[in-house]
Amino acid sequence: MMSSHINNLLRQAVTTFGSVKEVIPQNVEALKYLLDRTSPSDIGFKDHVLLKPDIWRKTGKAPITYVDIYEDDILTIGVFVISPNMKLPLHNHPCMHGLIKVIGGTVKINSYTVTEENGKSVVAHIHNPLIVSNADSSCILGPLRENLHEIESVNGPAAFLDILAPPYDTQIPNGGTRKCTYFAPVKFLAEDSILLKKIKCPSWFTTDCYPYEGPRILDSIFFREDNNI
Ligand SMILES: [Fe+2]
Repeated sequence: MMSSHINNLLRQAVTTFGSVKEVIPQNVEALKYLLDRTSPSDIGFKDHVLLKPDIWRKTGKAPITYVDIYEDDILTIGVFVISPNMKLPLHNHPCMHGLIKVIGGTVKINSYTVTEENGKSVVAHIHNPLIVSNADSSCILGPLRENLHEIESVNGPAAFLDILAPPYDTQIPNGGTRKCTYFAPVKFLAEDSILLKKIKCPSWFTTDCYPYEGPRILDSIFFREDNNI
């Protein structure tokens, strides 16, 4: 039986992030190759209702919707859909890798690399904002590079496939639980450097869920057996 693209992607993601730390960078390239070739139909997002403005006009609708595709203790894969004129607030990914592939609409990504940690605040290098749509290749963040970001929709709803490894709420070796921290700007220190303070999760940032409607995801045993994890 021919395996669907999403299952090939998942198998490569498990291989990539289930491998020893030293080979993760080269395996991320193999994953990026497949992710770059992921189309909306590969994950059931062609003409998806969440990419039409109407659903976002409903009273009480959360501004962000998450479509869960797969999660184990190695990685998590899902789709974030952002309503028009909305954003995921500035947040981090502690000791994590991340890959983002836009599969609907357009997003603007503002990324930062932490250069100094001071308890309740951080100094961060400001990267050039990226405007990304489905025609573009995926964006990568690492434990030490571009680990903080803010993602906003541009001209209508936008959706991106998000691969995170390890997932939030897993244990950091010698470092407690991987919790998401949110940040707000305090002041610019230079043209490309900013002081950010840690804040509570903004109250306007609420999410709801929508079921995954793409090709069937194989049981995790098929990915993990391949890799002897
Ligand atoms: Fe993120």
